[in-house]
Amino acid sequence: MFNKLKEQPADSLLALIKAFHADPRQTKIDLGVGVYRDQQGKTPVMRAVKKAERFLLETQDSKRYLGPEGDLTFVNLLKPIIFGATSSLLDHIVGIQTPGGSGALRLGAELIAKANPNAQAWLGTPSWPNHAPIFGSARLAVKDYRFVDLATQKIDFDRVVEALSLANAGDIVLLHGCCHNPTGIDFTTEQWKQITAFLVERALIPFIDLAYQGLGDSLEQDAEPTRLVLSAVDEAMVAYSCDKNFGLYRERVGALYLVSRNSRELQIAESNLASLARVNWSMPPDHGAAIVRAILESAELTEIWKDELREMCSRVNGNRAALAAAHPDLAFIAKQRGLFSNLAISKEITAALRLKQGVYMADSGRMNIAGMQPDDVDVIVKSLHAEGALNTRSAARPHS
Ligand code: LMR
Repeated sequence: MFNKLKEQPADSLLALIKAFHADPRQTKIDLGVGVYRDQQGKTPVMRAVKKAERFLLETQDSKRYLGPEGDLTFVNLLKPIIFGATSSLLDHIVGIQTPGGSGALRLGAELIAKANPNAQAWLGTPSWPNHAPIFGSARLAVKDYRFVDLATQKIDFDRVVEALSLANAGDIVLLHGCCHNPTGIDFTTEQWKQITAFLVERALIPFIDLAYQGLGDSLEQDAEPTRLVLSAVDEAMVAYSCDKNFGLYRERVGALYLVSRNSRELQIAESNLASLARVNWSMPPDHGAAIVRAILESAELTEIWKDELREMCSRVNGNRAALAAAHPDLAFIAKQRGLFSNLAISKEITAALRLKQGVYMADSGRMNIAGMQPDDVDVIVKSLHAEGALNTRSAARPHS
């Protein structure tokens, strides 16, 4: 049987982790996979997380099964943070715990495929490289459209409208709620309003991927676009990740939320989520969600977590400002938000940066701004310059 399989290439983003660790150079810089690093270059366990783990160690008295929906207290505690504490929407939302944001996307894609196998998933590119494969694996037709021009570092909004004009009622529109991965370029409030009006008019269903709340501007500001869209549409889905904003990457902590004004349909959809989870992973892993729950159930731990998240956010934006100030071609980086910005450079240049300069970034030219130290700025700029990735008149380079 196994002889019928074709060898699969390693995920190029995750392969960078191994390649970086195998590189013996002391001077190497990791701008690859999306993890936050502090001033010491570490990805620390957050203080609030450590305290919550100590608390769990002392108080958790059972590891019995929770069921396919996971820890619903965790799911519900996140709701006001995502949707707003006083939102009238809260009564129209159900959720389920998932293994990370990827699990939420996968479960959501399967729910769509079950409810409406003909639904097409509209995906603006560039996007997180795993988005299209996740939707494709759930047998949904993925329709992608290029909406960011890396040469100018701008959204081509006409392109968004043009692409979505081809969508059928009931199609899914995947949107990054904040901190666009890989470009760091988010829609303006005006553009979000136009998209929302368009979704309503054309009966399209938004599927919002919210994986970086609190790492753009603040918890509240980063949730605004999601809340705006959800306040207007009849149905929506939100894939949420706590991997980055709680620093729980390998614990795989996420949730999938469904929004509907029809309570009976919402209840039926919720039962489908549970049955899909059951055949996929049976029950989600508990530890990470238990940590988030312990933090959000304690006013003291919640304050510590929010302080740490603010520190992380301001460090990322400090790195952005430092890089932007270092070279005119990088000035756009200061305006972008979240962990990533995407240079308009070729795969050959990113390979040369890695091999010759020891500067690791995704083949696509995506840089993890949260991975660098302010001291790295000079080396990064010199390396970009040495490999022809900068040109003082413009950042524009054709993307291959
Ligand atoms: C990233 O985009 O670097 C992260 O979301 C890690 C991943 O799973 O790709």
